[in-house]
Amino acid sequence: MHNFVFHNPTKILFGRNTIDALGPESRAWGQRGLLVYGRHSIKDNGLYAQVTAGLQAAGLEIAELGGVRSNPLLSQVREGIRLAKEHQTEVIIAVGGGSVIDTAKAIGAGALVEHDVWKFFTGKKGIKQTLPVTTVLTLAASGSEMNSGMVITNDTTLEKFGFGHRLLYPKVSILDPEATFTVPPDYTAYGAIDTISHVLECYLTTADPDTPVQDRLMEGLIENAMTACERCLLDPCDYNGRANLLWTATLALNGLTAAGLGRVGFPMHLIEHSLSALYDVPHGAGLAVVILGWLQHHADTCAPRIADLGKRIFPSLGITHADQGAEQTIDEMRRWFCRMKAPVTLHDLGIPASDIPQIAENTKGLARLWRLHDYTPELVAKVLQRCL
Ligand code: NZQ
Ligand code: ZN
Repeated sequence: MHNFVFHNPTKILFGRNTIDALGPESRAWGQRGLLVYGRHSIKDNGLYAQVTAGLQAAGLEIAELGGVRSNPLLSQVREGIRLAKEHQTEVIIAVGGGSVIDTAKAIGAGALVEHDVWKFFTGKKGIKQTLPVTTVLTLAASGSEMNSGMVITNDTTLEKFGFGHRLLYPKVSILDPEATFTVPPDYTAYGAIDTISHVLECYLTTADPDTPVQDRLMEGLIENAMTACERCLLDPCDYNGRANLLWTATLALNGLTAAGLGRVGFPMHLIEHSLSALYDVPHGAGLAVVILGWLQHHADTCAPRIADLGKRIFPSLGITHADQGAEQTIDEMRRWFCRMKAPVTLHDLGIPASDIPQIAENTKGLARLWRLHDYTPELVAKVLQRCL
């Protein structure tokens, strides 16, 4: 096991009735708040009314940035920064999924500087301070509620860049499974697939071959993401199904799984970010396609590791042999994605093979920032060929 530091400062309030605490928890960080939310789900399901009443009761003065779209845009972040400066915001309150939370984090970083916020994403400027962010999570997927990452699409250059900094952890995140009851079946599945991908990236790019604690933890998270997702699709209001999916998603990308693995990479995310930047496909839908292509491309070099995973998460396959086991695992994963009604090919996403060179070219900037130097456009194009 490699040396590691694990320091996650986000306070989690998990369970029923925890949303009542949003007012006091946010008021502890300031009096002037900026409430950030998405397009319509929280107004449709009553969460907006509940949250705004709670914030007002706690004495917060609230400005609002609503309408944050999925695969959030830099232009909306800039609008949020303008609002935060105008209202002298002291605390940012995000109510939504990863897109809303990432937008809130970016506003929190950009509101305290004069230069453009995109400079943080391109590494031209470093973050020195941020506004505090509190969250109510409404969708199990990104892990943003308990991690130091943010992912934003530059709507001028069509680059989708992810960036991490220790000051970007939310101060408090409220995880009430009931707030996720209204997530539709497609996004429930995409969220589970995103969760699985976060674990797979670490599991398959680990620099350390001898980390049994981490391995069992990761296999357990993948297995649970699948079973919890199936429960939620069967009954969207299954409290324990939603609770398990929510906590699995949070644990899958809060630093815990990667502890002790040495340097890990996120090559599947590198490729997916290009897909969602260019075609605005849901992140988890793009990942379903890329995971399968990436696994196929690495089926030779990573065969024992893929087969080990298959032995644990798909015991009914009875895997005994590495090469065969890798293929069986990939096939079984494809079947599971299909059962969850996720896309499994570029064609399913409506993306023609002729676009592969352009998609591959679009990964160059992020590959440089993420130091994925092996992932040249040529290699990315080869992986994408396996996604057809
Ligand atoms: O906009 P509204 O109307 O709220 O609808 C949203 C949106 O259409 C809907 N939704 C969310 N909660 C709901 C709900 N609908 C009904 N009931 C609810 N309770 O779901 C749709 C998708 O929301 P979004 O926030 O985009 O989903 P997700 O949480 O998957 O976030 C995706 C974004 O996170 C980034 C992705 O790249 C993508 O931009 N990621 C962020 C990461 C991080 N910060 O660490 C890591 C991830 O790998 C990922 O890259
Ligand atoms: Zn992801």
